[in-house]
Amino acid sequence: MTPKVRKAVFPVAGLGTRFLPATKANPKEMLPVVDKPLIQYAAEEAVAAGIDELIFVTGRAKRSIEDHFDKAYELEAELEKNNKAKMLEIIGNILPSHVSCIYIRQAEALGLGHAVLCARPAIGDEPFAVILADDLIDGRPKGCLAQMVEVFTHYNCGVIAVQPVPREDTDKYGIVEVQPIDSRVGKIHSIVEKPKPDVAPSNLAVVGRYILPASIMGILAHTQRGAGGEIQLTDGIATLLTQQQVLAYEFEGIRYDCGSKLGYLEATIDYALRHPELKDQFRGLLKDKLKTLA
Ligand code: UTP
Repeated sequence: MTPKVRKAVFPVAGLGTRFLPATKANPKEMLPVVDKPLIQYAAEEAVAAGIDELIFVTGRAKRSIEDHFDKAYELEAELEKNNKAKMLEIIGNILPSHVSCIYIRQAEALGLGHAVLCARPAIGDEPFAVILADDLIDGRPKGCLAQMVEVFTHYNCGVIAVQPVPREDTDKYGIVEVQPIDSRVGKIHSIVEKPKPDVAPSNLAVVGRYILPASIMGILAHTQRGAGGEIQLTDGIATLLTQQQVLAYEFEGIRYDCGSKLGYLEATIDYALRHPELKDQFRGLLKDKLKTLA
């Protein structure tokens, strides 16, 4: 029987240089899209996929993430005193009570592969998910990770989310070469980190959602520094491919690259346009702004 995916690793120890100075004292995963930080969207997606243990691999300036998921006694007391029941409910229910959080420190930002390896003691021998919160995914009809869990349950092997990107952008992503085996599902033959467009094996890019077997940890422990001098998760997955099948899954939904300023702004516009309290006013505001641009 396929084991259940109960744990998700959130690597949040990157330097976030593309968003400086906003990320000088705060992780980029705490940047809000309208009124929720990116990390909360990611945690909600994980919980909706059946995950009940969230493992955050944090770095410097980590406190705000721990504080966000922790109980805020003083704030709650203040809101209660002022009869702000709605706000009280929002901050009291950041995560359901059956979900637990673990924080592990990555002392040095040695790369995504290294960040995942830091979670090894908390993973044990179970398959687990990895979520990069700066890839905000509006999954339709259900969350991206929930879609991937279905694929994992069916095939019982590693699953990586992918999406087609313009050829000229292959050097910004891990790129996979696949053999299609079902609608949206392909067997990965090779994976390479940030290849130049003329040597990229395809235009199918890896995005920030993975379901991996625990055996990736042993592989990462022996993975040398690769592209950019970092220990790359992509290189670990390339070795995993020599040992077992890993699938690429073209998820249904929209991905926003919130690690880049333009992607972040696009996400902010789209999420504001359907925010229950803001959407009408925001649409009006946007229309007025567009008139001044015409
Ligand atoms: P990025 O490649 O986006 O790097 O990391 P970054 O440092 O966060 O951002 P830029 O490029 O400097 O602006 C992808 C994910 O891996 C995590 C990041 O937090 C992000 O979620 N990461 C990366 C780590 O946790 N540790 C690392 O050593 C590197």
